[in-house]
Amino acid sequence: MNWKVKAHLLALLSRIPAGRQVYHSLQRIAGTNRLQLDRDLNRAFELIDLSLETGQSLEGTEILEIGTGWRPLVPYVFALAGAKSVRTLDVNPWLTKSYALETWAAIEDRLEEIAARTNVPISDVRDRHRSVDTSVTTLSEFLNQIGIIYHYPGDARETGLEEESIDLIISSNVLEHIPLDVQNSIHLESMRILKTGGVSIHRFNPQDHNSTVDASITHSNFLKFSNRDWTWYGGSGLAYHNRLRSREYRELFESCGFNLTVCRERIDQRSLIAIESGELIVNEQFSQFSPEELAVDYMWVVAEKPARPATVSQNPDSRGVHQDVAGRSIESGSEKV
Ligand SMILES: C[S@@+](CC[C@H](N)C(=O)[O-])C[C@H]1O[C@@H](n2cnc3c(N)ncnc32)[C@H](O)[C@@H]1O
Repeated sequence: MNWKVKAHLLALLSRIPAGRQVYHSLQRIAGTNRLQLDRDLNRAFELIDLSLETGQSLEGTEILEIGTGWRPLVPYVFALAGAKSVRTLDVNPWLTKSYALETWAAIEDRLEEIAARTNVPISDVRDRHRSVDTSVTTLSEFLNQIGIIYHYPGDARETGLEEESIDLIISSNVLEHIPLDVQNSIHLESMRILKTGGVSIHRFNPQDHNSTVDASITHSNFLKFSNRDWTWYGGSGLAYHNRLRSREYRELFESCGFNLTVCRERIDQRSLIAIESGELIVNEQFSQFSPEELAVDYMWVVAEKPARPATVSQNPDSRGVHQDVAGRSIESGSEKV
């Protein structure tokens, strides 16, 4: 599909009353929010791996997920791994009881894998899965049985949670959809609610999402556009993407007082070649970034709340004032989209 067709349709739906409901119905019809168990389990396992890699235990932890989306697979995996509670919040009401039940039933065949990847005895994982009564009436009743608390409407800028009450904050495929100033507020709120030494773990996708429907464009295609043009194509509404580059994400975490203990970045080689050869001419507003920074299409970040947070900036600058970031690890990842 030509990406502009999809972009125009989403821009239109974003501007009409009830556009959000129509968008949800179209997604059901097109099957774009269907369960993709392998892909979504892999995303949850990446968050588990990062938690374990940084020495974060899963058993008995208090967790907050930002951006539930349609399918609570990430909260399921952390709950089955023994978290005390997993609060998951979203500003949109995408999660339904039928999605939750369908996803819960689907993971029954994957419990051994979940046990192995989370380092939890299979008997514990099976017992937790078996303990859930799927005949309960409401979505909340269903989720609460395994310690999942769903907050809709719930905004990660203002969680209402107690100071220093959370061990671990997680998100998958969320940060790229959040404007810089809102992310700044989310990170400051995360700093407030995290216990000292607690971590905020995010995996996200700075690439042009239109490249998933149109193979003729690269993952960095949207960098051609000015802000004004991009606002028309996808910079607002249902298809919002912030187009922040890797350095900006890192600097934002650090300006909010976090220590980045892990920062992995995947560079899309096709985009890099297109940018370096001049085939893709990026808009002048991205001129301060290197071709590699422009071509990063996936990121995995672990941000730790240190014992004594660095000075915190309340007003993040917009593009153009950032320092160089030599020395940070840049690695390949496995995620395709
Ligand atoms: C692309 S979806 C990803 C959903 C899910 N994590 C997944 O991987 O399928 C991004 C989600 O973040 C949510 N979101 C955006 N801003 C938010 C905020 N300030 N607080 C909480 N959720 C937010 C959106 O409503 C949306 O459901």
